[in-house]
Amino acid sequence: MDRISITGGAKLHGSIPISGAKNAALPLMTAALLTDDGVTLDNVPRLSDVTQLLRILSNHGVDHKIAGRLAGQTTETGQTIDLSARQIVDTTAPYELVSRMRASFWVIGPLLARMGLAKVSLPGGCAIGTRPVDLYLQALERLGASIEIEAGYVIAAAPKGLKGAEIFFPKVTVGATHTALMAAVLADGRSVIHNAAREPEVVDLAGLLNKMGARITGAGTATIEIQGVSRLHGARHSVLPDRIETGTYAMAVAMTGGDVVLENARYDLLKSAFDVLQRIGVTVEKQENGVRIARNGAGVSSADVTTQPFPGFPTDLQAQFMALMCKANGVSHIRETIFENRFMHVQELARLGARIKLDGDMAVIEGVKSLTGAQVMATDLRASVAMVIAGLAAEGETVVHRVYHLDRGFEALEKKLQRCGAQVERISD
Ligand code: UD1
Repeated sequence: MDRISITGGAKLHGSIPISGAKNAALPLMTAALLTDDGVTLDNVPRLSDVTQLLRILSNHGVDHKIAGRLAGQTTETGQTIDLSARQIVDTTAPYELVSRMRASFWVIGPLLARMGLAKVSLPGGCAIGTRPVDLYLQALERLGASIEIEAGYVIAAAPKGLKGAEIFFPKVTVGATHTALMAAVLADGRSVIHNAAREPEVVDLAGLLNKMGARITGAGTATIEIQGVSRLHGARHSVLPDRIETGTYAMAVAMTGGDVVLENARYDLLKSAFDVLQRIGVTVEKQENGVRIARNGAGVSSADVTTQPFPGFPTDLQAQFMALMCKANGVSHIRETIFENRFMHVQELARLGARIKLDGDMAVIEGVKSLTGAQVMATDLRASVAMVIAGLAAEGETVVHRVYHLDRGFEALEKKLQRCGAQVERISD
């Protein structure tokens, strides 16, 4: 199993290209199930989660073609994928495929909308809490589907098609909002999603669906309206830049010091986290085609942060921010309100000498003068990159094990850090 070795201490200088967002690419790819025409996606990141979703889509009969690299493009230029769901050959998403990635459950919406039937295994994915799917199922029931759970599978049926409806989410959920959107676009009549997720990835999905002929308004607000249509057609769409990757490298620079331009990053997608970084003494400068992050020798001050749905501070940056706070001047409080049990990185950070106490959904971090390299374990996608960030600022060598978590969501991580002067290398057995 691959490991990543980091020798801490180097400041980061240069530029890092930000990839297309994993969390947008996955629902956009799934949307290809909604039409028998072709859907072309540009700027798709090279990640194992993308490859896994291609496997799942193939199982339903979706053909795909990954375009060759054009002259002048590097591995850091996102890939173009053509998807064609001309014929759906199977409406079942089996356990062996779905259990490896939670987002693969999202095929349930488009399969049901187009075929009137979907049998999808209950999901697996990151070990960050129980992550139920009750709200997905309630939304599909509101749209007229019958739902049964049998031997670990959800069987959703609407043989006469779905009917537009009002959907009320009692809590904000990204995945159930994607699912409700993808189901409602082909329903008969008008649907309204109340308390919808406002995440930029929802806006990106609605953007593609509208290019395909859907009639969606209000994406990016808490109320989304969908006027159902009988058929969708093909379209071409470019995946929006990854705001979590952006925030992760911003925190790496804040941790080590230095000056780095995050190319293609969009400031407006991450205002909450940039505000916090500025407050603790980091320079964040919006540029024409990116965001510049700089931090001089003075270190960062402590801060209190609570994770919230967009536009609040993202839970997917909580672990990275905690790594940063481990060396801040003072005591920080981080409250996690989205997922219970998303503190597995705490004991790994402690192995580097961090001082963190847990109290329910709150972590209290007392900044220390220095961290010391150690062997640590990646426990989930975002937690694993937090260990890399901590390692960049620790004295000596840090080795992060179970790197397959990182490969799910961070494209060319070691290369991107190396080009800014970090001493990072992948060790393959
Ligand atoms: C997505 C992101 C993930 C991010 C999360 C929150 C992708 C592939 N994943 O995950 O990186 O951390 O949004 O920003 O885009 N919930 C229920 N019942 C449901 C569905 C959700 O109780 O039926 C709860 C969850 O347990 C959680 C909260 O709602 O406490 C938010 O989860 P949700 O927004 O659905 O997360 P995902 O879509 O799985």
